[in-house]
Amino acid sequence: MATLDILTYPDPRLHLVASAVDEVDSLVRQLVDDMAETMYRAPGVGLAAPQVNTLKRVIVVDTSEERNDLRVLINPELVDQDGKQKTEEGCLSVPGIYDVVERYQRIQVRALDRDGEPFVLEAEDLLSVCIQHEIDHLDGKVFVDYLSRLKRERIRKKMLKQLQHVS
Ligand code: NI
Repeated sequence: MATLDILTYPDPRLHLVASAVDEVDSLVRQLVDDMAETMYRAPGVGLAAPQVNTLKRVIVVDTSEERNDLRVLINPELVDQDGKQKTEEGCLSVPGIYDVVERYQRIQVRALDRDGEPFVLEAEDLLSVCIQHEIDHLDGKVFVDYLSRLKRERIRKKMLKQLQHVS
């Protein structure tokens, strides 16, 4: 396994749309394992393949406190949703920034697991938020896209300044 580099907002590659996985083969499983290691190492509660510069519809999430409940969703699709909730979100691609986003309270999502087996997951609260956040990444959407233009501009400038400090 290996940890992967995470793209940082406002990298334009974060706004590309990922394509469906045709077959869950050993390369996809390798990606899943590397993404899980990268997420745990960061540490974060979720990671989507486009964040590690791979345009595949693959996400990993673990919202458990013990960090022992890895969920792998390949080609995830919302099949049902209900209610609303507002939660403060953050993102490994937007380090240090947290803001409130409105999402569905409960979702039902259909996906393939790491073995390519289909399953349906019902999620609410934090897990639901996290899955919605990660599915957004597959569609080229970062949580700051829900914020006002003014806030987004401020975040963009802050991120660019941090990047300059690094290089
Ligand atoms: Ni994110």
